[in-house]
Amino acid sequence: MTASPFTLHSKSTDCAARRGELKTLHGTIQTPIFMPVGTQATVKSVTPENLKEMNAQIILGNTYHLFIRPGQELIRSFGGLHNFMNWDRPILTDSGGFQIFSLKELAKITEEGAAFRSHLDGAKLFLSPEDAIEVQESLGSDIMMCLDTCIPYPATREETIKSTDLTSRWAQRCRKAQNDTGQLLFGIVQGGMHHDLRKAHAEALIDIGFDGYAIGGLSVGEDKAMMQDMTEATIPHLPEDYSRYLMGVGTPEDLVEGVYRGVDMFDCVMPTRNARNGTLFTSTGKVVIKNAKYRDDKRPLDPNCNCYTCRNYSRAYLRHLFQCREILCYHLNTIHNLHYYLHLMAEMREAIEKDSFSTFRNDFYGRLETE
Ligand code: GUN
Ligand code: ZN
Repeated sequence: MTASPFTLHSKSTDCAARRGELKTLHGTIQTPIFMPVGTQATVKSVTPENLKEMNAQIILGNTYHLFIRPGQELIRSFGGLHNFMNWDRPILTDSGGFQIFSLKELAKITEEGAAFRSHLDGAKLFLSPEDAIEVQESLGSDIMMCLDTCIPYPATREETIKSTDLTSRWAQRCRKAQNDTGQLLFGIVQGGMHHDLRKAHAEALIDIGFDGYAIGGLSVGEDKAMMQDMTEATIPHLPEDYSRYLMGVGTPEDLVEGVYRGVDMFDCVMPTRNARNGTLFTSTGKVVIKNAKYRDDKRPLDPNCNCYTCRNYSRAYLRHLFQCREILCYHLNTIHNLHYYLHLMAEMREAIEKDSFSTFRNDFYGRLETE
């Protein structure tokens, strides 16, 4: 067993929020952190330079998409994903498990791995746990994820046990297939909506031993209370000296609630996808920019925001761009939404350092109610 790449700096005295750092091949990230999603070797509509201006520390890529197109050989020939996309800070790659699960009838899971058809041209493809590691090693991501299996919601106890047991065997095979590249490998805790299965699966993964632990299988249709309950059911069983990553979550409220319960890392398409639909996050709540009330609104989107968009443009201009579907609107809206998410995480880190996270959480909800 190698030492944990995670260092815990401080813990809140009245909740589970914690401040730490995670060491990777491309640098150390300060946690808690949000990872912008860059599925196809790009965070849609923004450049690496834009991401740096908003203090993005790490981004996420997808094994499934890059495996299908452009393929691991091409990216390997560039020396990896960092060189290919011109991003020199850390990258986490998801394994493909969740994307293949989303293909539904296009995928067939066996002991050996996942057989599926490409969503692009229907070509027959296969990804085993060993393949998922090989592809992620070709991509050269800083953090690789184990190939896991997800279950639909709701699922029976029997289905859940079958799926988590297979995920454990795949996790073992991923760990074994890994070469000595210095890349980190995280295990993914499944277990559906069952407290005891979450605990048992966390313990099975800890026995194998990973560089960090993710909580998977959430945000799949359950309500918010259930998602928080399952986060709480998993975290106490994870080792304190390793990082915890809540996959695919969530809204700004979900991030605050996740940090409150001891989560260190998050990713979600919400800030980038909503930016492209014209739904913008601000300190006082959501702004739907197409709304007629912004037609002649000369104020910045969020007077409390220091992003490039808010420093330079009015709500009326952003609304105009959106109404015309001008491509600049995707760029400006994405810069704002990601800046909002990353700034929120920076505020949370600061609050934990001062041991005032609970106050921060109350103030956060207080501000949202002012709109
Ligand atoms: N993204 C969101 N949830 C999950 C999950 O359960 N597994 C994987 N691999 N990725 C995810
Ligand atoms: Zn802004």
